[in-house]
Amino acid sequence: MSPFAHITGWGMSVPEKVLTNEDLAKMVDTTDQWIRDRTGIRERHIASPEQSTATLAVEAAQQALEVANLKPSELDLVIVSTSSPEHIFPPTACLVQDQLGAVKAGAFDLLAACTGFIYAVNIASQAIRSGSAKNILVIGAETLSRFTNWQDRNTCILFGDGAGAFVLQASETPGGVLSTVLRSDGSGADLLSLPAGGSFMPASHETVNNDQHFIHMNGREVFRFATRVMSQATREVVEAANLKLDDVNLIIPHQANLRIIDSAARSLEIPLERFLVNVERYGNTSTASIPIATCEAFQQGRLKPGDNVVFVGFGAGLTWGAALLQWSGPFLPEKPIYPFSYRLWVRIRSFLNRLVRSLEGLIWRSRYPGI
Ligand code: ACO
Repeated sequence: MSPFAHITGWGMSVPEKVLTNEDLAKMVDTTDQWIRDRTGIRERHIASPEQSTATLAVEAAQQALEVANLKPSELDLVIVSTSSPEHIFPPTACLVQDQLGAVKAGAFDLLAACTGFIYAVNIASQAIRSGSAKNILVIGAETLSRFTNWQDRNTCILFGDGAGAFVLQASETPGGVLSTVLRSDGSGADLLSLPAGGSFMPASHETVNNDQHFIHMNGREVFRFATRVMSQATREVVEAANLKLDDVNLIIPHQANLRIIDSAARSLEIPLERFLVNVERYGNTSTASIPIATCEAFQQGRLKPGDNVVFVGFGAGLTWGAALLQWSGPFLPEKPIYPFSYRLWVRIRSFLNRLVRSLEGLIWRSRYPGI
């Protein structure tokens, strides 16, 4: 029988700096009341200049590894889902792999906008179920504040920075990720985009002058799409697991807008109390929102072993999807692991790798001059 993919570790990290609606009202023509009425958001966290997608990802990952009692060196794969990577390449996941000391892991980035974390959980669980990996780190991390036009009141009120991480591990015990639904519709690509900086529209003075390196959004159309697909994907993922909506203990939706979550709850005829909602304190952290909300659900005692939980999200692409899992919690530890204590060793190791690479380069050039 193929192994099951259990979530055995979780962690989150958000920047200390908080930007309130009142702060935003001093920057653009808006009010706290308007933002709360239309989105449910009260405040969001914004990365400091020293922080980046990778630094937040590493902090969330270290917590998740600690909860799972897993050494970074036991990871087979590191997946970072993000729409705000450190660079187009190298992958942010490789920087995270190096900073964690995940010496035996493959690492790659995944871009499916706000739905990315659900896509990443699907890929990780398939890799575990196929037997090709045992321990996988899945991170959703964003610093969308770096791509936000702080003069555009249509978008700047929505987004916040943060990261969340899961450890997925193989086990013969039934449970873990039971079903997933992944969908896309590229005909709606123009509704939410970051137009320039890719191969289609490389960076130029003109693209900078035209604000094309910022998020562009047709809010009304994205809203309409989101309210339709959230309930649809939830129904599909529950059906795929041969369960009924009544069997679901908790729904953890992408935190974009309280009205979208409320509309999904009404369409599913499920009380809002069975949804985890924290959009008021973080805004839309894109692909990080579901793992951050999961950490909070656990802290609030809303996740118990055996509970059926649905993750459901939507985003640019357009993409949407859902995952249904039976919550398991950490496997029993043989002995506790302290991933933070790896930090110094990991830095030394990374430094030595660079040093050896430079020395090898010198030797190579002296042996084979002109090559
Ligand atoms: N403050 C005050 N007024 C505003 C603001 C603001 N911040 N923003 C827009 N308005 C105005 C508009 O200009 C418009 O004025 P007009 O009628 O004179 O033209 C009016 O308010 C209504 O605008 P709408 O866009 O219709 O407002 P709506 O109720 O749709 O709310 C919102 C806008 C909050 C953006 C909503 O459409 C929404 O949440 N959409 C979904 C966005 C989303 O979830 N995006 C993330 C997707 S996930 C990802 O992949 C990153």
